[in-house]
Amino acid sequence: MCKLESLSADHDRLGFDCGSEPLNSYLRQTARQHQTRGISTTYVLVEEAAAITKAIIGFFTLNICQVAAEFLSEREAKRLPRNVPAVKLGRLAVATDSQKSGVGKILIAAVMQTVLSVFDKVGGIGLFVDAKDEYAADYYKPFGFVPLPERPLELFLPIKTIQDSWK
Ligand SMILES: CC(C)(COP(=O)(O)OP(=O)(O)OC[C@H]1O[C@@H](n2cnc3c(N)ncnc32)[C@H](O)[C@@H]1OP(=O)(O)O)[C@@H](O)C(=O)NCCC(=O)NCCS
Repeated sequence: MCKLESLSADHDRLGFDCGSEPLNSYLRQTARQHQTRGISTTYVLVEEAAAITKAIIGFFTLNICQVAAEFLSEREAKRLPRNVPAVKLGRLAVATDSQKSGVGKILIAAVMQTVLSVFDKVGGIGLFVDAKDEYAADYYKPFGFVPLPERPLELFLPIKTIQDSWK
């Protein structure tokens, strides 16, 4: 059994490898600092019965963001003020030895539940993600994320879609 925890000193950040050096070094060097400073929160998936220094199976990072509505589709932008609040999925990664076995999907489900609870408490138009490349962008599309017009690596999932699919 696995569980999700907020990143802390109990987790083996150095031992994590997802095959992408920028994501590995973000987790090793930056994630905790950002968490301490209130810039973002990182959640890690670990085995329930893990030892003291828990191996990280996967992680994601969320932060609150403000987006200019002009970057959305015309239909969406028309009914919104100039700047709108949202949540950003800043990072998502799964350890290489656990990839392609559904862990990414478990993390995405946890992201959606977190976004729904943020939305219930403080509002927000949906979830944004910056995909690191086209392969990553293709990973997000089956979950309903749509690339922004003229920004193919920035994707948006409206809160309505999250409510319809994950509530
Ligand atoms: C991308 C990543 C998070 C996916 O996690 P994962 O645990 O391997 O993915 P899952 O096993 O949950 O896959 C879920 C589904 O997505 C599909 N999928 C995986 N990668 C895909 C891609 N690039 N394009 C389209 N579909 C993809 C799988 O086939 C699976 O579909 P299925 O349930 O119909 O079989 C993981 O491979 C990873 O960490 N990669 C390196 C870092 C990275 O690229 N992160 C994205 C940051 S922008």
